[in-house]
Amino acid sequence: MSSKQINIGLIGLGTIGVGVAKILTQNKENLALRADIPVVLKRAVDLDLSRVKSLDMTGVALSTRAADILEDPEIDIVVEVIGGVNPARSFIETALKSGKHVVTSNKEVIAKHGLEFVEIAMEHKVNIYFEAAVGGGIPIIHALKNSLAANNIEKIFGIVNGTTNYILTKMTREGAAFEAVLKEAQALGYAEANPSADVDGYDVAYKLSILGSLAFNSHFSYEDIFFEGIRNINATDIRVASDLGYVIKLLAIGVAHGEDVELRVHPAMIEKSHPLANVNGSFNAIFVKGNYVNETMFYGPGAGELPTASAVVGDILDIAMSPDMDRAHPSIATNLKDKPIRPIGEIVSEYYLRIEVADEAGVLASIAQICGNHKVSIRAVQQKDPVSGNAELVLITHLVKEGSMQAALAEIKALPTVRAVHSLIRVGI
Ligand code: HSE
Repeated sequence: MSSKQINIGLIGLGTIGVGVAKILTQNKENLALRADIPVVLKRAVDLDLSRVKSLDMTGVALSTRAADILEDPEIDIVVEVIGGVNPARSFIETALKSGKHVVTSNKEVIAKHGLEFVEIAMEHKVNIYFEAAVGGGIPIIHALKNSLAANNIEKIFGIVNGTTNYILTKMTREGAAFEAVLKEAQALGYAEANPSADVDGYDVAYKLSILGSLAFNSHFSYEDIFFEGIRNINATDIRVASDLGYVIKLLAIGVAHGEDVELRVHPAMIEKSHPLANVNGSFNAIFVKGNYVNETMFYGPGAGELPTASAVVGDILDIAMSPDMDRAHPSIATNLKDKPIRPIGEIVSEYYLRIEVADEAGVLASIAQICGNHKVSIRAVQQKDPVSGNAELVLITHLVKEGSMQAALAEIKALPTVRAVHSLIRVGI
């Protein structure tokens, strides 16, 4: 690391990159005071440089080739904010192998290749930081790596996707349908043209694999995490949930058990009195329960240009303030236990079930019989007004194993009097 100043090379001038360029150029005096050394944006690259035209980038070498940064021996820290796996992965590997520290906001590449990066970083005596990969501006990674490190983490759960939280919030407030809100969110730029990573739960699974690895001192592949998105959540379920005192949110949930760990991503009905029920729009919130600290809550903007850039620049300062490190921290636990993820069939939850049935004598009894056979105990039943000879039943169960619930559901679906099983949503956290 240069002893006179810290030189930054920024790869990617999209939303987050522009935010990073703004903070590094507009707040440089303050950053230099904090780090006790000038932190200089030396180079920035993107195929499209138009987005920084309105910024004062005096002294910053702009170009379209990442190699200009990766091959510059004076660059100390490479900031990768292009997202996705390719070519981000090779940029990160090349930077680390060239003895440069890396800061990234890229949850997908960290979830898929973080372990390899940490190993390369350790070999080359540099580090890789990724605070902005989870929770936008919320300092949850630093909290897990440092501030809460004294604890055995018992549970971590929360809302870590701003796009889906924005969609669910709008559906809840306006009684609107998923597709309509998604289209509106896309038009406003809150949701991507291809929304799958957000609405189908991939983004949350990437983030949970990172959070879970740090919280539970093990490495978890996102592919082993059960995840469901919000495509099947409809306005009726949101309304019925509200009548019953619940709000539907897309949750990431991690729970430590003795020998294994629960890691799952799915929509869940949470009580309106729970603080997560009031986390709305693109905000994120994460609860962490440690054995010494007890329950903590981290809340803030989960996405967006400046909040995410704030986390990126925080990482840059972290590196700038510890320039003499001679080994990378095992920032995604590489050296600890290998804990299995509990199969989804083994987790225990309450369930909400909405079924359309023939409005005939004995139908409810036959459903209750199947539930009883599978030890699914019913906590509440509601029957809505009949529509064209059918009735809508809403059942809420007591705590039961997911495997038993699914086995009962398969039998319920096969009953000739059951017209449709509209929804199965887990209740509680
Ligand atoms: N697509 C992500 C979200 C961006 O909606 O939360 C922040 O990771």
